[in-house]
Amino acid sequence: MHSGPQLIVALDYPDRRSAEAMAERLDPGACAVKVGFELFVAAGPGLVEALQRLGFRVFLDLKFHDIPNTVAGACRAAARLGVWIVNLHASGGLEMMQAAREAVREVRPETRLIAVTVLTSSDAATLRGVGIDCSPQEQVLRLADLAVNQAGLDGLVCSALEAPALRAQLGDAPWLVTPGIRPGGGGGDDQKRVMTPRAAFQNGASHIVVGRPITQAEDPAAAVAGILQEIPA
Ligand code: C5P
Repeated sequence: MHSGPQLIVALDYPDRRSAEAMAERLDPGACAVKVGFELFVAAGPGLVEALQRLGFRVFLDLKFHDIPNTVAGACRAAARLGVWIVNLHASGGLEMMQAAREAVREVRPETRLIAVTVLTSSDAATLRGVGIDCSPQEQVLRLADLAVNQAGLDGLVCSALEAPALRAQLGDAPWLVTPGIRPGGGGGDDQKRVMTPRAAFQNGASHIVVGRPITQAEDPAAAVAGILQEIPA
């Protein structure tokens, strides 16, 4: 169903040096890495290239949302950079996603294009505030259908709690990339609804994103090894 590592380490750092220092402690055969807004704005595409030179597959988590032509251009640039996964907001609409899909296919078909549906920080009140009068769950399923079935995207970023309903609607093929993972189920930071790696895969996740439980561990490689043991063969 999928090639490459199923564990993605979120490199949530403010600068290139810290991100590279962590990457050097990780094994690119065991995990991929995620570069988000803060790090990309600070360190730029040069860092992505450096991570790829170390052998890592990179998930460029920039959640594009703009007019179709602009998002297609951004996705084209990401594909040229050689990233493994790039993402956008499904709420940008079908035309935007189709343009992005086309752009990635033209440049580098092996780059995966996935969508964010409803951010886990949004609840029913947040949606009502922007004029959407359905539950987050209904909106997730509607945008998932638009992204995967209609625009032909490769998958979604979603909560592992949403994964069973998404699998029921979409089947086995799409990638479901799930953050909010805590080995041992522990909390202690700003993630409120968390799931263990094992439970996330049981729920239907194809990939998990894990940040602080690895990056703040005394021995990040050992933390990775522990999580890998929970991934079904
Ligand atoms: O440190 P932690 O494991 O909480 O990091 C999770 C990563 O996944 C962060 O980069 C965060 O921005 C991202 N993320 C998330 N929840 C979402 C979407 C993305 O935690 N709903």
